[in-house]
Amino acid sequence: MNDRKLLVTAALPYANGHIHIGHLVEYIQTDIWVRFQKLRGKKCVFVCADDTHGTAIMIRARQEGRPETELIADMQAAHERDFKGFDVSFDHYGSTNSSENRELCNGIWAELRTAGLIAERDVEQLFDPVAGTFLADRFVKGTCPNCKSPDQYGDNCSKCGATYSPSELIDPVSTLSGAKPVTKSASHLFVELEQLHEFLDTWTQSGKHLQPEVANYLKGHFLCDPLRDWDVSRPSPYFGFEIPDSVGNFWYVWFDAPIGYIASTWQWCKANGEKLEDWWKSSSTEIHHFIGKDIAYFHTLFWPGVLKTAGYSLPEFVHIHGFLTVEGEKMSKSTGTQVQAHTYLKHLDPSFLRYFYASKLGAKLDDIDLNFTEFVNKVNSDLVGKVANLASRTARFIEATGLSVEYPHDGGLFAAGAAAGERIAQAYDQLDYSRATRLIMELADQANAYVENSAPWALKKDPTQQVRLQEVCTIVLNLFRQICVYLTPVLPKLSVQCGQLLQAPITHWDDSQTPVVNQAISKFEHLLQRIAPEKIQAMIEESKEVVPSPAAEVPSAAAPTSELPIDSGDALIQEPMAPTCTIDDFTKVDLRVARIIKAEEVPEAKKLVKLTVSLGGDNTRTVFAGIKAAYTLEQLQGRLVVIVANLQPRQMKFGLSEGMVTAAGPGGTEVFLLGVDSGAVPGQRVH
Ligand code: MSP
Ligand code: ZN
Repeated sequence: MNDRKLLVTAALPYANGHIHIGHLVEYIQTDIWVRFQKLRGKKCVFVCADDTHGTAIMIRARQEGRPETELIADMQAAHERDFKGFDVSFDHYGSTNSSENRELCNGIWAELRTAGLIAERDVEQLFDPVAGTFLADRFVKGTCPNCKSPDQYGDNCSKCGATYSPSELIDPVSTLSGAKPVTKSASHLFVELEQLHEFLDTWTQSGKHLQPEVANYLKGHFLCDPLRDWDVSRPSPYFGFEIPDSVGNFWYVWFDAPIGYIASTWQWCKANGEKLEDWWKSSSTEIHHFIGKDIAYFHTLFWPGVLKTAGYSLPEFVHIHGFLTVEGEKMSKSTGTQVQAHTYLKHLDPSFLRYFYASKLGAKLDDIDLNFTEFVNKVNSDLVGKVANLASRTARFIEATGLSVEYPHDGGLFAAGAAAGERIAQAYDQLDYSRATRLIMELADQANAYVENSAPWALKKDPTQQVRLQEVCTIVLNLFRQICVYLTPVLPKLSVQCGQLLQAPITHWDDSQTPVVNQAISKFEHLLQRIAPEKIQAMIEESKEVVPSPAAEVPSAAAPTSELPIDSGDALIQEPMAPTCTIDDFTKVDLRVARIIKAEEVPEAKKLVKLTVSLGGDNTRTVFAGIKAAYTLEQLQGRLVVIVANLQPRQMKFGLSEGMVTAAGPGGTEVFLLGVDSGAVPGQRVH
């Protein structure tokens, strides 16, 4: 079966966010596998695409006041730039919002209809009365109906993996507005997955297509019961493809997203004179999907069911990886550990992350942890200390003479390295990259021991030892090259640099089996620099997203909203915009950051509280503010506010007011003090 072609996919990233170092676990894992297969001479095509449809994109485009197509084009450009920056090299990168995808969806849908798998019935769907839209999956949070974990999304549970419809959640909340959703009825279309139960049982439990732990999980959680119908339509408004035979209804994003794998392949085929059937309907192609464990259900039950029904090839294997944690914790924006790809690239070399992930990745679903101390140590000691050093300690000595005419006697080192090739290849093929890198570093250790023993720097000084020097350097540079061949899937740039140095490009795994001799070498150029730990710090700092400091946290009656809210235009209607003012008018008003150092009752006043605010140092002011109904004294104490500092003082019944605290809202309990992001200090002017 060695001549079978490989079609490889990584999950299609959502177009509503940037690529971060968590995503990169998957794209790097997949890219390494693809590069490995290609280096071994396999015909292998790697396709991906942006996943563009759904409510999140629609809402975001609405907020940004532009068409969805513009938003997704920008995101796609950003994604492609990030992938390129990390040497993730797709043969084709498409979009689920393509004509090819629409056509494929239509065809597959027709097959599902013909097979009698589609049912229609009314669904009570949650509707956000404040935002005025049905609440799809990701916009509802609540308690999982299956395992009762709180704070789960409306489509599936991150704790137990159950899938359900949002209306089944216990105590649901709209993440758009914080409102309690109401139930509204609409007609939905379903795929009756249970009709495929027997097939899915056989396919998932065959031991050939899934990691054993995944197969067991499916058996224990889903296949032990009747499979639920899968709700694949959403009523308008929705950004996606309208279902041709069901006007006003759109395919749910998860219906057309995996079909995007086929669509992207099709685009690649068109550009390369190939036939789609040869890749998706032929036993001569093996399809390999790489995904994270959070989306296992879609790829291991629904997707095979659709493919089978519509007459496409089933995946040979769905490779599922675990999640990235950083310093042992879930990535977080507030601590700066959710590092975006482009932020990383501003500070560090992509090779470092590729190597680190490779050294941590096995074939299982374990989460992998990015510990920065380990990261720095590993990169500095392995990549710089063991690998790059082989070249930097020898290449300069033979710039003038080139490599020896014949490969000198090396005590069997090169042959041992060549013999290790198959073991290393097997580890790559089985996705056990941590084993592959360990085996490669063992070779590097042996090569470094040879350098130490042969001491080329000493030979250099002895005029009688120049032939020996050339021999030693020829040996070390060939060992270096052998290691670079083995590291090519992980470190494509280093591999190219090595090819340039020895004037022998690395193009095939078998380049590890024969030494290069009798030729000039190029001038040595620096390969990899050690990581300075400050770089990590700077990257983390830049990744910190400003979250309100406790002092500036505004109490709110609504539940916290974690997703993009919809803002109605009501506030503007209620209080129309003031006439234009000039910048001079504005600068007359001196707005300053101030800290409330004391908040006191004014017993005789219904609405007022007396605030003593500090502008820093011993500059304090007394200000009366009409916020009694909205804040307790404790909430006010210590927080930062913005005050009009040069307002003419005003004598009130209770005392002199020396300024005004700024706030939004109509009044009463609906008063919202202006806060400032953390970092601002009392006395600073607001411009
Ligand atoms: N759009 C869907 C996939 C559709 S495939 C037909 C999606 N997109 S995603 O952008 O959220 O995630 C893309 C991939 O990155 C998924 O396989 C997901 O598991 C993976 N990862 C996202 N965050 C991750 C970590 N923190 N760690 C490891 N992988 C992660 O899901
Ligand atoms: Zn659950």
